[in-house]
Amino acid sequence: MIDLSGRVAIVTGAGGGLGREHALLLARHGAKVLVNDLGGSLKGEGHSTTRAEQVVAEIVKQGGEAIANGASVTDAAAVGQMVDAVLSRWGRVDILVNNAGILRDKTFSKMSWEEFRLIVDVHLMGAFHCTKAVWEHMKQQSYGRIVMTTSSSGLYGNFGQSNYSAAKLGLVGLMQTLGLEGVKYNIRVNCLAPTAGTRMLDGLMMQSTLEALQPASVSPGLLALVSESAPNRAILCAGAGSFERAYITLTRGVHVGLHDRAADEVLGRWAGISDRAGEIVPEAGSAQGQIELEKAGFGSVTGVGS
Ligand code: NAI
Repeated sequence: MIDLSGRVAIVTGAGGGLGREHALLLARHGAKVLVNDLGGSLKGEGHSTTRAEQVVAEIVKQGGEAIANGASVTDAAAVGQMVDAVLSRWGRVDILVNNAGILRDKTFSKMSWEEFRLIVDVHLMGAFHCTKAVWEHMKQQSYGRIVMTTSSSGLYGNFGQSNYSAAKLGLVGLMQTLGLEGVKYNIRVNCLAPTAGTRMLDGLMMQSTLEALQPASVSPGLLALVSESAPNRAILCAGAGSFERAYITLTRGVHVGLHDRAADEVLGRWAGISDRAGEIVPEAGSAQGQIELEKAGFGSVTGVGS
């Protein structure tokens, strides 16, 4: 059994849906939990702390310790106060679950600047604010477990969700680099890509399908990602009790060189460029440049970045 006693967790957007299940499960495993939720609609309108307070009451009823917080993750100052409240109450923060989110689905033609910006603000900037507010503290205590909630929409695309897809894949990039920077401080950063029958999927699937996709069956994946023996820089996909991993890979590719017909050769050798035999999962972005220089005949070169 994963034991989180003595650990302190912040779960954003935990007034309902997945966040609520995450918060309840972390508390059942002994963590003290700050339950954050803006308490607005699926589109992000309105504000109420009632739902966060209800989850706190549930945790307390099951014998755990929790406090409610109604900050919007888009408000950096309020997020700072949220982290201060946790530190003054429990003296530490070990786990951050960036889960808060909303939708503003439209095809790209119909999407306004505001709708695009709002989704990036809530998902990507919101996770940035919360992570920034706990990062130095986690570094000082040489312990931290952070999860970004990404989505299959970001990993693979989804019609009508260009804003959401962009924000969600942005979180994968944030995780990749923070996972590298956190290594020497024992801070591990991972992504969770859930499928769950929450209000986010209401009307998009049959009721029976929504019921099969219980949010509670995603939370064990989250618990694994915030445990002491968590992986680092993984993208864990989870839904209906099944778990998969997604990877950003690089094919072996071909060397074309620089000449007048290079673009034609790129098209002509597309099958070779795309061939997935021997593809790798680079440890860092610099791997791409190193491999390209090696193929170009420059041997093994180090220190190539993006
Ligand atoms: P949900 O709508 O039930 O939960 C999201 C919660 O975040 C709500 O309680 C909402 O009040 C809160 N929230 C929204 N904006 C906030 C803000 N600015 N500050 C603080 N809290 C805020 O939806 P669900 O499905 O539980 O979503 C949780 C996360 O999982 C989201 O990041 C979502 O994008 C992600 N996700 C969900 C999928 C699904 O199948 N349900 C699929 C892929 C990703």
